[in-house]
Amino acid sequence: MRIGVLTGGGDCPGLNAAIRAVVVGGSVGFGDRSVGFLDGWRGAIENDAVELDVERCRGILTHGGTILGSSRTNPFATEDGPGRVLATASAQGLDALVAIGGDDTLGAAGRLFELGLPVVGLPKTIDNDLSGTEVTFGFDTAVQIATDAIDRLQTTAESHHRVMVCEVMGRHVGHIALHAGLAGGAAEILIPEVPFSLEAVCDRLVARHNGGRFFSTVVVAEGAVPAPGEDAERAREATASPSGADQFGHARLRGVGEFVATEIERRTGYESRATVLGHIQRGGTPTAFDRVLATRYGAGALEALHEGAFGTMVALRSGEIVRVPLSEATGVSKTVDPRLYRDVAPLYLG
Ligand code: F6P
Repeated sequence: MRIGVLTGGGDCPGLNAAIRAVVVGGSVGFGDRSVGFLDGWRGAIENDAVELDVERCRGILTHGGTILGSSRTNPFATEDGPGRVLATASAQGLDALVAIGGDDTLGAAGRLFELGLPVVGLPKTIDNDLSGTEVTFGFDTAVQIATDAIDRLQTTAESHHRVMVCEVMGRHVGHIALHAGLAGGAAEILIPEVPFSLEAVCDRLVARHNGGRFFSTVVVAEGAVPAPGEDAERAREATASPSGADQFGHARLRGVGEFVATEIERRTGYESRATVLGHIQRGGTPTAFDRVLATRYGAGALEALHEGAFGTMVALRSGEIVRVPLSEATGVSKTVDPRLYRDVAPLYLG
């Protein structure tokens, strides 16, 4: 088979492991030939491609980023985008395309499948917000990076008797915040799914300090917002996006960590600082878990396309690699487990 591969959306650790799994596994296991499209759907629209083989994939397993580049290009927001992707597939003689991406990239893949593109999806994103799979690769690495950062913030918080606010990624969901916050023993975890009350947060911090714990770490997901009211208005002003939306309609988020730190200091009098982890969470070498998961997904995608199971996404369920329809896997974010956030986490906040 001739297989196309692309990586779209925000990059994450493990993308190269997934590319390698498709290219090497396809070549060695099935005698496939592979071609990579550059910068996600942009390369597929413009037929900007490079040949991929076993040699090109040597040594990339452990490398962060993606050798193919990535972008947030949306074929459905580009003039004649879908038609041009189909024309590229035909010009390249593709039998199948493996689209490696999150909700946006795979949502577009699902729509292109409806138009006749033989595509299989492979789920990645540090946010872990894709429905249909228990976990996406990239998430484990991001949680580990955020946990390491929280560990470091805890010791300096303790030395200076400060409140350290750590802003992590998570536009619509708080998986990274919840997992890293729990792993790092944070005092507060604020997530997009549950609007927060600054008053309640400050009350709990004061009670904690009055109880003899003279420092705290607060983890806040970048998309967390205060509950409707005056604070929400002020947060909106303080976090207004400096730029327009991308081709999938997402505004660039910024500022909630600084807003929360400023408010905590103003209301409690505790000296507070904000740290924004940002893209550090997306860079660098993947954890062993993410390397293995990306490899298993790549192998699963190869099996799917050789069996003609187009329009599906490979997924992890109960430890097994399975297939789910792309239409089912995209469009609705997988949010945090409310029982973990509401019932379990409060017992263990540091
Ligand atoms: O890929 C997901 C993500 O990392 C989100 O957590 C974050 O909001 C967004 O990407 C940042 O995107 P960009 O790199 O385009 O600024």
